[in-house]
Amino acid sequence: MGTKSMKKDENNLMEKIVSLCKRRGFVFPGSEIYGGLANSYEYGPLGVELKRNIQDEWWNVFVRRRIDMVGLDSSIILHPKVWEASGHVAGLVDAMVECKSCHTRTRADHLIEDHFEKTGSSISVEGKSTEELDAIIHENKIKCPTCGKFDWTPVRKFNLLFETNVGIVSEAQSKVYLRGETAQGIFVAFKNILDSTRVTVPFGVGQLGKSFRNEITKGNFIFRTLEFEQAEIEYFFDPEASDWKKLFEEWKMGLWKFVTENLGVRGENLRWREHGDEERSFYSKRTEDLEYQFPFGFKELWGLAYRTDYDLKQHMQYSGIDLSYTDPVSGKKFLPHVIEPAVGINRLMAMVLLDAYTEADGRIFLKLPPRLAPYKAAVFPLLANKPELSARAREIYESLRKKFFVAWDDRGNIGKRYYAQDEIGTPFCITVDFDSLEKGDVTVRDRDTATQERVAIDGLEDYLAAKLR
Ligand code: GAP
Repeated sequence: MGTKSMKKDENNLMEKIVSLCKRRGFVFPGSEIYGGLANSYEYGPLGVELKRNIQDEWWNVFVRRRIDMVGLDSSIILHPKVWEASGHVAGLVDAMVECKSCHTRTRADHLIEDHFEKTGSSISVEGKSTEELDAIIHENKIKCPTCGKFDWTPVRKFNLLFETNVGIVSEAQSKVYLRGETAQGIFVAFKNILDSTRVTVPFGVGQLGKSFRNEITKGNFIFRTLEFEQAEIEYFFDPEASDWKKLFEEWKMGLWKFVTENLGVRGENLRWREHGDEERSFYSKRTEDLEYQFPFGFKELWGLAYRTDYDLKQHMQYSGIDLSYTDPVSGKKFLPHVIEPAVGINRLMAMVLLDAYTEADGRIFLKLPPRLAPYKAAVFPLLANKPELSARAREIYESLRKKFFVAWDDRGNIGKRYYAQDEIGTPFCITVDFDSLEKGDVTVRDRDTATQERVAIDGLEDYLAAKLR
């Protein structure tokens, strides 16, 4: 039987991933002992490693290794005027309906799209008004997916920003928001970055951190959650000196390369989709989404938008502070424009897990790029009841662990240990046997091919380092 990777819509791939993630400590349902909290998750001992490895890859590729980029870590709670200036207080809204019978609340666009999908057709509701959405629900007599009744409230808009209060008095003046995107922190810190560093346009600022949105929709596992790790870049340039279309294409290529090469995702599961006039945010001159073929269809993975100078202009107006940039050579003073690549690390992680899941030759394994895998290797003594094997294996484990995140396993037989490591994507299993004691080498088994080779114990560190490059 040859290698057969599953098609996205086959054999309940999503259910398999959700189950594997819970069973093996990647992702747990949020607050589970209290019955769970919709659209929230916890990242377990292996999940936190995978997520962190994806974050590190993003940070290294887009911030550390580029001479035209700097990093930032701004606050989650910013001055409330930031969100008025950015347009989020007025504009970060979804259209919602509530079933008057069972009180299920759902996004109107998702209700309509799901209904049409079930009937084998499709509809575009992008940019439709609340009245238009109401009309579609009524014309098609779309019933509540929970109780089956047809008894909806009118469609109404609600804001996705989470509100809270600063201080102990809950008054209008103390109202603040948890950030709905990391991007605004970059615009707010723009002047301080210019004043404190030697960056010259064109340059970008990258930021990684939690964002929060009051999502009421069905989340599809970690695809859409209440809180998520966003990785955003604002790339500032002079629109008179740089061709935005060329920059946009360069960013498109960069994102594609990152997903296919650094995250190891198959290009056939990716596509670019440009936003039409109705869908595109009013401040954007062009928006394209890099989409991944999730089991529930091609969906946005990474947004790329040309936001012009909209945000800097808004913050300049609301704060009264001059945010323009002065070219150090020509003395030209202007407001830079930005191109913004924005992605959620959790969504990248969902994609990486789905794409890596492989069933072949009676085995299940996560074909993760070694750099992303939680454990880089696992070390076993061939037999757990032979103290000399265990002692040598333990020495190797402890020595490798100083450099790499390595697992130890001496339970059950070798076959079971391979199975357990395959399922969590450990790329290499190292077995210490009786020959190891005499010849100073070990068996290294490759996760993807299940082939084995002998490697000198002294050379193990270099062997793993080369595989992780
Ligand atoms: N600054 C632009 C911005 O935030 P967005 O399309 O709303 O644009 C960018 O979000 C990316 O953040 C999305 O492509 C997605 O990867 C991720 N994202 C957005 N909302 C999310 C949510 N509720 N859960 C997980 N990831 C989310």
